[in-house]
Amino acid sequence: MKFARFAALTLAAVLLPLAGASAQTVKIGFITSYTGQNASVGAMMDQAVKLWMKEHTKHLPAGVKVEIINRDDTGPNPEVAKRLATELVTRDKVDFLAGVIWTPNAAAIAPIAAEAKVPFVIMNAGTSGIIPSGGAPYVTRVSFTLWQSSLPLGQWAAKNNLKKVYSLVSDFGPGIDAETAFKKGFTDGGGTVVESVRMPLATQDFAPFFQKVKDAKPDAAFVFIPAGVQATGVMKAYQDLGLAQAGIKLIGPGDITTDEELINMGDASVGATTMFHYSAAAKRPANEAFIKSWKAEYGSNSTPAFPAVATWDGMAAIFDAIKAQNGKMDNAKSAAFLKTWKTDNSPRGPISVDPETGDIVQNEYLRRVERVNGVLSNVELETFATAVKDPWKILNPKK
Ligand code: PHB
Repeated sequence: MKFARFAALTLAAVLLPLAGASAQTVKIGFITSYTGQNASVGAMMDQAVKLWMKEHTKHLPAGVKVEIINRDDTGPNPEVAKRLATELVTRDKVDFLAGVIWTPNAAAIAPIAAEAKVPFVIMNAGTSGIIPSGGAPYVTRVSFTLWQSSLPLGQWAAKNNLKKVYSLVSDFGPGIDAETAFKKGFTDGGGTVVESVRMPLATQDFAPFFQKVKDAKPDAAFVFIPAGVQATGVMKAYQDLGLAQAGIKLIGPGDITTDEELINMGDASVGATTMFHYSAAAKRPANEAFIKSWKAEYGSNSTPAFPAVATWDGMAAIFDAIKAQNGKMDNAKSAAFLKTWKTDNSPRGPISVDPETGDIVQNEYLRRVERVNGVLSNVELETFATAVKDPWKILNPKK
C-alpha cells in the first residue's frame, strides 16, 4: 500500500512537469453551417478539416497538438454566429477563429475577432466589404470575393458576342457584389444588362424567375445563388423552362456549377460557362493529389468544391502559423503571419494573401461544364487572369 502510493506519486512527479513543458494545445474554433440552408456545404468544409488533420497532424512541431472546436451557426444567422464566436474567444480561449460560409455571419464575427485580438480565417464568405479597403484587424480571407470572378466574367462576356444579359442574383451581400461587378465588366466592354433582379436568399423554386428571363429573350442569364442544393434548383429551372433551347446561355461565378452538385444537375449543366478560382477537374498536380485523397477518404462519388479547398488552404495557413511559432502561440504574431502567407501548392494554383488587405490573391479560370469520361466537370478552358486582387478594393481605395 505504502509502496504503491509512493510509486504513483513518483510517477506523477515525473510525468506532470513533462506534460507541462512539452504538450502545447492550439485551439481552432471552427464555425460553419452543419444545419440550415445549404448545410451540405458545411458538411463538406468539415470533411476538409478532418482530411487535413488526418494527413498533416504528423507535421506539427513535436509536442504540439491541434484541437478543433466545431460550432454550428445554423445558416445565415449573424446573431448565432456572434454568440458562438464570443463564446469561443472568451470561454474556450481559442487561438484562431475559422470557417464561416455566410457573409452576414462573417461580418458579425470580424469585429469580435478584432476586439478579442484573435485571428479570424474566413474560409468561404465572399462579400468584398467584410474586409474593408485597407484591411481589418485580425481578419484574413483565404476564399474569394465575388468581384474577383464576376468582373472578369463581364469583360469576357462583352468580348464574346453576348450583347444583352439578364442578371439574377440572391438578394444579399455576395449577390449584390456579383451583380455590380458583372455589370461593370460587361457594360464597360459595351454590353447591356437588360434587367437586374434580386431573389430572396432562401428561394428554392427558381421557375418564376427563369420564366421572366425567358420572356425577356436575352443572350444569356447571369446568375448568382449560394453554392449547395440551390445551384441544382437553378439548373432545374433553366432546364424545365427550356432556356437552352431558346438560345439563352447560362453564365455566372462558379457557385452556380459548384463541383459537388454537378452529379445532381445532370446534362442541363453542360455548356454553362463560369469564371472561378477553382475547379475539381483542374489538371494541376496539387489538385490531382487533393482529389485523389478526398475520393479515397469519402468515396468516388464525393467531389470537393471551392469551400472544401478554401478550408484546406486555410488549415495549411494556420498550420504554417503554428510551425512558425513552434506551437507557442501569440495572437498578434499569428495575425501578422497570416497576412503574408502564400503557397504555390494549393489545389487552385498559386495563391497569396495581400498584406495590405488580408484578402486572397489568386487566378481566375474560364470554365465550361462538359462531360469528361462520362463525368460532368468544370473544364478549365483558360487562365483568364493571374494573381487577381479583390477588384472592389482597387476601385474603392481607402480614403
Ligand atoms: C456568402 O455568404 O458570402 C456566400 C455563400 C455561398 C456562396 C458564396 C458566398 O456560394
